[in-house]
Amino acid sequence: MRLVATFFSLASLCMVPAFAAEPRNFEDHILPLLREHCANCHRPGKTRGGLDVTTLEALEKGGSAGPSVTSGLAENSPLFRAIAHIGSEEAMPPEQDKLPPHILASFKLWIEGGLKPNASGRARETRAVVQLTVDTATLGAPTTPPAFIRSLPPRTDAPQLLRALPVMALAANPWAPIIAVGGQGETVLHDLSDGHRIGALPFAAGEVRVLRFSRNGQVLLIGGGRPTSSGKVQLIELKTGKPLTTVGDDFDVVLAADLSPDQSLVATAGPEKLVRVYRVADGALVWTMKKHADFITSLEFSPDGKHLASADRAGGIFITDAATGENPRLLAGATDAVNQLAWRSDARSLAAACGDGQALLYDPESVRLVGKWAAHEGGCLSIAYSREGSVLTGGQDATASLWEEGGKRIAKFKNCDTAAFRVGFTSAQNPLVGDWSGDVREWTPTGEEVRVLSARVRSF
Ligand code: HEC
Repeated sequence: MRLVATFFSLASLCMVPAFAAEPRNFEDHILPLLREHCANCHRPGKTRGGLDVTTLEALEKGGSAGPSVTSGLAENSPLFRAIAHIGSEEAMPPEQDKLPPHILASFKLWIEGGLKPNASGRARETRAVVQLTVDTATLGAPTTPPAFIRSLPPRTDAPQLLRALPVMALAANPWAPIIAVGGQGETVLHDLSDGHRIGALPFAAGEVRVLRFSRNGQVLLIGGGRPTSSGKVQLIELKTGKPLTTVGDDFDVVLAADLSPDQSLVATAGPEKLVRVYRVADGALVWTMKKHADFITSLEFSPDGKHLASADRAGGIFITDAATGENPRLLAGATDAVNQLAWRSDARSLAAACGDGQALLYDPESVRLVGKWAAHEGGCLSIAYSREGSVLTGGQDATASLWEEGGKRIAKFKNCDTAAFRVGFTSAQNPLVGDWSGDVREWTPTGEEVRVLSARVRSF
């Protein structure tokens, strides 16, 4: 199997058409076309697909798939994709011939020219596009592990820390021997093939609260920010350690985030109790969900990309349709804070770590609780599924345990100094545990310690 990923970014400011074309504006050129070909089905009172095309504001608000036009980016705008028959969007107008080329050209010129409202109006700013989308049909074990950077230059700008920081965020690459550990203002990368510290990726947005590798292992998502002020997600190309793009303009720190398996969407959430889903290509906000009654602690796209699961501090767990945010379903049964969620690799089971110490298992299809067991005295803080379907939990009791799905213990890992705050599996499927004192331990599945990595963000 071959993994297809293209990384290119394009300063759309330079996108001057090669021929001298008359600039288009909404009032004189676009609205008449929309009225003639589209308004029958997309107008106030009859908004098929949730879309009204009769004003510029309504177009920018868009329909169920989010904003239908993005300034500067015709081929990333659902409206243009629909009329030009690009991608999997429903072709528009439905069951009719494609609109003639000169009409398509008008729409393209108008979008790429910055969505001018009328002859005297100003063009919008345009944003660079980042194309990371991968074909999920080819996702699976790659023939060669993803390339990763072997050393990062030492930071000279970071303040000296006087003590170790808790492991706030931890992620292991699914296919390469590399892990990422989050802290204050940076993410430390370790190479597990020899245990060496690769170095730190600075995160200017604030504290790092969530880390995830993309399903193909080529991209690292870093989420976090500053409590009560701002939240952001940065995507890093692992091969070079370079930022690809930043999305999100949340008003509080991002506590939970994920990149969809096809890498087209980023979901974020946190103390604002709101799930936000952004498009990676242009950073546009696609949908939001307001179902949670308390801080959102965790969220994750299902491995098949169809659903987004999210959980909160009051025990609320929801599954929604990932593309649209529609059809939210409550997964009942948690009686305390849900600290973390994890999908099984076949998307047929969702596990939850609960503040009352229980591990819960749900069938996402029937939205029913199908299993639970007491995992940790004082609270279950973290949970992860191995590729084969065993469950790793970490707890307030400074231990982690590996379980069969029904709750039969396979091994117990006791060497944490403090609460086992974050858990995961390495690419070799070894359990990994990050604790509150700042250490990360790798184990064999039978309970032998392989190594201890200090996540201390700065040595002192
Ligand atoms: C005969 C009715 C009809 C006409 C005419 C029509 N559409 Fe649609 N359009 C629909 C329906 C129905 C949907 C919802 C499709 C779905 O969700 O499967 C839709 C969905 C869309 C969407 C996706 C909206 C979203 O956010 O999900 C876009 C964009 C769109 N239309 C653009 C256009 C444009 C531009 C035109 C004119 C060139 C047009 N449509 C003409 C019926 C129509």
